[in-house]
Amino acid sequence: MADSRQMLDHLYPIVLAAHNLWRWIVLLGVVAATLVSLRGWVGGKRRSLVNDRVTTVAVVVMDVQLLLGLVLYVGLSPLSRAMLAAPGAAMQSREVRFFGMEHPFLMILATLAVHAGKSRARRQEARSGFRTGTVWYALSLVLILAGTPWWRPLLRGF
Ligand code: HEM
Repeated sequence: MADSRQMLDHLYPIVLAAHNLWRWIVLLGVVAATLVSLRGWVGGKRRSLVNDRVTTVAVVVMDVQLLLGLVLYVGLSPLSRAMLAAPGAAMQSREVRFFGMEHPFLMILATLAVHAGKSRARRQEARSGFRTGTVWYALSLVLILAGTPWWRPLLRGF
């Protein structure tokens, strides 16, 4: 038991750093998905391989971040552990409340928005598909920006 706790404590800074750095890839992916969809919509373009690839990459990159976040949440972070152990008391701390509830909630919504954009756009004809994609990816971007703890380090080393 003590051994597995030690191992998790050892993993914590590594996964936290990965989650920190990966958010830049997430931002890049979702901004790119928004821009290629916007360009397709405004420019009246046909569907293209580039559009399809960029939006697929955004979905995958987002899912990886969700997975890293879940690993932090359920096993590694002392903040979510405090939240899960004693939700009432933990609510008194701004930091615990943010990482125990607000951050995961907003980021899960942001992930769902990217998935909704991809799957809905695919089922529509090009122009309305691009419009649908633009709206959902932009919404995801807003949720990500709102849910990001900007007071934490912008880059965290391993
Ligand atoms: C999908 C988009 C997400 C982005 C862009 C994101 C971004 C971040 C950033 C920038 C940090 C601060 C890292 C640091 O202090 O170095 C963080 C911390 C954290 N995130 Fe996320 N996150 C996302 C999703 C999630 C999800 C879905 C969960 C949980 C289910 C989650 C759980 C956590 C936890 C628990 C911490 C703090 C850990 C601690 O300081 O002990 N994240 N996240």
